[in-house]
Amino acid sequence: MKAIVYQKFGTADVLQAVEQPKPIIKADQVLVKVNAFSINPMDWKIRKGEMTLMSGSKFPKHTGTDFSGIVEEFGSAVIGLKKGDEVFGVVKNMMKEGVSAEYVAVTASLVWKKPANISFAQAASIPVVGTAAVTALEKMGNISSQTSILVNGATGGFGMFVLQLLKHRGANLTAVTSSQGAAYAKKWGANSVKDYKKENVLSQKATYDIVIDLSGKMGYKTAKQIMKPKAIFLNPTPKPIEIPLSLLGNIFRGKKHVVILSSPATKYTDVLLSAVKNGLEIEVNKVFPFAQYKEAYEYAERGGYIGKVVIEID
Ligand SMILES: NC(=O)c1ccc[n+]([C@@H]2O[C@H](COP(=O)([O-])OP(=O)(O)OC[C@H]3O[C@@H](n4cnc5c(N)ncnc54)[C@H](OP(=O)(O)O)[C@@H]3O)[C@@H](O)[C@H]2O)c1
Repeated sequence: MKAIVYQKFGTADVLQAVEQPKPIIKADQVLVKVNAFSINPMDWKIRKGEMTLMSGSKFPKHTGTDFSGIVEEFGSAVIGLKKGDEVFGVVKNMMKEGVSAEYVAVTASLVWKKPANISFAQAASIPVVGTAAVTALEKMGNISSQTSILVNGATGGFGMFVLQLLKHRGANLTAVTSSQGAAYAKKWGANSVKDYKKENVLSQKATYDIVIDLSGKMGYKTAKQIMKPKAIFLNPTPKPIEIPLSLLGNIFRGKKHVVILSSPATKYTDVLLSAVKNGLEIEVNKVFPFAQYKEAYEYAERGGYIGKVVIEID
């Protein structure tokens, strides 16, 4: 089967499509013929060597975490999935199990049936950013119409889910996005929208109960300027040292720094599937054919689009 791997850190140029044997499943796994997989910022952060503490420096490395496809085989201990089921799911360790391949062997507990009303590309866009969004909402705690929330980087994959999941909670939502994202942010629930290329939220007078930074560019120290005295800053892109420091620091300060480290599980997917059933939109900006995988990763990394970028295997 075809699979994308890399032998050294670098740009999308280090990615190579190689021939590999089809994976062999264990008793608790299913073999999925991959139809689509989505691109996440984590793919290029690891590939560029920006996360070596976590990724290590052993090669070859695979890439890709969330996928959709059709069950081809299932292990003897698997209940509830059978050959031919349309599914989507996620692997725990993309560097070993990466889903950018024609087939992937996955633990059945991380595979879910694809709703009939969404495409394979949309389904492959759910697990990583969807789970992170549900986790972010858990960390926000109780929200009322009095709660003011700033979502910075609001119309990428993660933001698309955060906005729509928050929409029905009644909070006062401010979305920071590009000019092309404004209409999406409003449709997805933002009460007001700011264009990050024209306005600087840091120099404005407004302060917020919750600030979530999905751009990876704000940071707790900067965000403090626009946080109310007991506000929370949600950070899904912490530096390793910030994980213990945020916990320690929060004991003594009013403005909390809360790190998000999400891990997909059925309890999150249930929330997401219910939201999809109730009309949550999954915007797939562009679908690339497998042969154009390098262009796809370059495009995704450049940014400037709404929602997700997906690669399809024909
Ligand atoms: N901790 C976890 O469990 C977890 C899970 C999932 C994701 N993440 C992380 O969360 C972050 C967001 O993920 P994602 O998939 O949504 O990424 P994404 O699709 O790349 O979205 C990032 C968004 O930030 C916007 N942006 C860029 N510069 C900005 C600025 N200066 N001000 C405001 N917005 C700006 C981008 O807009 P343009 O395209 O216009 O530049 C883009 O819409 C990533 O860093 C990802 O690694 C963490």
